[in-house]
Amino acid sequence: METETLDIKITKTAKSRVHDQDVNNVPFGKVFSDHMFVAEFENGKWSKAYIEPYREIPMSYALAALHYGQAIFEGMKAYKDVNGHVSLFRPQNNFHRLNKSAIRMAMPEVPEELFFGALTELLKLDSEWVPTGDTGSLYIRPFMISTDEAIGVRPSDTYKFIVISCPAGKYYSEPVRVLIEHNYIRAVHGGVGFVKAAGNYGRSLYPTKLAMEKGFQQVIWTDAETHTFVEESGTMNLMFLIGDTIITPALSDTILDGITRNSVLAVAKDWGYKIEERKISIAEIVEAHKKGTLNEAFGTGTAATIAHISAIGLDDVVMELPSVEKRAFSPKVDEYLRNLRKGIENDKFGWMYKIC
Ligand SMILES: Cc1ncc(COP(=O)(O)O)c(C=O)c1O
Repeated sequence: METETLDIKITKTAKSRVHDQDVNNVPFGKVFSDHMFVAEFENGKWSKAYIEPYREIPMSYALAALHYGQAIFEGMKAYKDVNGHVSLFRPQNNFHRLNKSAIRMAMPEVPEELFFGALTELLKLDSEWVPTGDTGSLYIRPFMISTDEAIGVRPSDTYKFIVISCPAGKYYSEPVRVLIEHNYIRAVHGGVGFVKAAGNYGRSLYPTKLAMEKGFQQVIWTDAETHTFVEESGTMNLMFLIGDTIITPALSDTILDGITRNSVLAVAKDWGYKIEERKISIAEIVEAHKKGTLNEAFGTGTAATIAHISAIGLDDVVMELPSVEKRAFSPKVDEYLRNLRKGIENDKFGWMYKIC
């Protein structure tokens, strides 16, 4: 595939919408910033790249992505630090993960300069859309879809790589109650659980809806073969503090390699915590709860950073966990990452990518 540098043609909006609302308080995911980035792939190469005012996609009802699911995405955030500078958190990791998804879904890889050019130019134009509050950020959604207008199962010849963004406050502010799911599955070995393919999320909605009807906000997915080992929860990786050891399911092709997971583990290691990345059985969690050593359970992900788990349901039993105030690790790492992104904490890991 040719990767010559593409110029990004920029058409600015005639009138910004940023002052039509309070970006620190808009509902998440519904209000989009002024501009979007689009790159078009055809004849075996990325041939056009442009930024223009946010708009809808004109499309054919035969659009390949709608029928055969060649659709992948990333989720990342831009933060405004205490001095008003805008930075991204570990965007290189999102870039690599996007291309891992692209390869698995038989889609073209996005060249590095296109990915970073898109983010830099968009954020320069839309920097006023980045919320300023303690937990505020601009959520950025890079995604790629197949765009052939043809019925027939095969890789598309044409694609669009698009980046849109929307202001975000804190995602899950309250601790969550999660239900262990051992009937439906999220991912199988040899499947696509380790990438961000749109279909992974569609398939999760029905089991999650059933869990919600039982009073939980999310499910904990278990392994497809035996339903005895926990894997992930919603759009989060899982961690448990049992005794004084942080235990998290080891990465595999059924688990997404979360950037927050990796960051939390790096900070925990730096702080001298014992860490175990390995299989965790439901029985081990139940046992630890019985013994009173299940001190913390939480999810990690870009959306919430840390989502404290207040209760874990298993069939008809509910295991209540210690209150967040009693937790030694997860609130501390949450605050550390928040301060790092706001420029209050020294960026000793070199994770912040400055834009403007
Ligand atoms: C299935 C799944 N697991 C885990 C995560 C957490 O990944 P990250 O920390 O990179 O946001 C996400 C969110 O992207 C996800 O969709």
